[in-house]
Amino acid sequence: MSEESILDEQQTYYRARADEYDEWWERLGKFDQGPEANSHWNQEICELLNIFASLPLDGDLLEFAPGTGYWTELLADRARSVTAVDGAPEMIANNRARLGDKAEVVTYVQHDIFDWVPPRRFDGMVFCFWISHVPRRRLSGFLAKCRDALRVGAPMFFVDNLCEPTGYAVDQVMPDSDSEFTQRLLNDGREFTIVKNYYDPEELQDAARAEGISLDVGNTSTYFQYGVGYAT
Ligand SMILES: C[S@@+](CC[C@H](N)C(=O)[O-])C[C@H]1O[C@@H](n2cnc3c(N)ncnc32)[C@H](O)[C@@H]1O
Repeated sequence: MSEESILDEQQTYYRARADEYDEWWERLGKFDQGPEANSHWNQEICELLNIFASLPLDGDLLEFAPGTGYWTELLADRARSVTAVDGAPEMIANNRARLGDKAEVVTYVQHDIFDWVPPRRFDGMVFCFWISHVPRRRLSGFLAKCRDALRVGAPMFFVDNLCEPTGYAVDQVMPDSDSEFTQRLLNDGREFTIVKNYYDPEELQDAARAEGISLDVGNTSTYFQYGVGYAT
């Protein structure tokens, strides 16, 4: 299967998953890994939220891959405007429904991120659980796009998964560590192949620096990698 066709399948997967997506974040159904793991998960989300709250994310913001809107809602609470770019109309519909009146500050753009050209420079940007879906061959190009979308000094924040089985569904088979791809199952049993990279912090930091973003990548104890960067 070519990279192009896997990226298409990744889009198809997220379109089909939109209505069950939040079960993962909320640890429901097959994502319920028991009280101890769930409690760690929620504590680590609190850590992410504290970091997110400390950043100078305001003004006109860009969000890539907003999905069902958990982070979009937090951005809408503090921004003058949010431009939210996602390829899945089903995700955008659920995002809009979550935000209700708060969606007034959000411009939704249904587009493939890899083909999207930023129409302006933003005051900050966020992409959560997205960079792991960027093929390694496209990482530099993606980060160059981020840099093109930011004014000098603007912050960039991201979050993603660490490679930890209890962060996924109980039926998730973890991929080989050298594979860029993984299999995902929906509740109805349909199976999809998607891109899933667990980037090393140094790899991300070096790639970002090469494109003009000063980036620090850290992690919580078990579940999440995060990055805080500034356009230079
Ligand atoms: C893992 S979800 C992240 C959702 C959200 N940021 C969150 O943290 O809950 C990935 C999102 O990327 C979107 N997506 C996948 N491939 C895409 C592409 N090529 N262009 C635009 N959006 C894409 C999916 O529709 C989905 O909403």
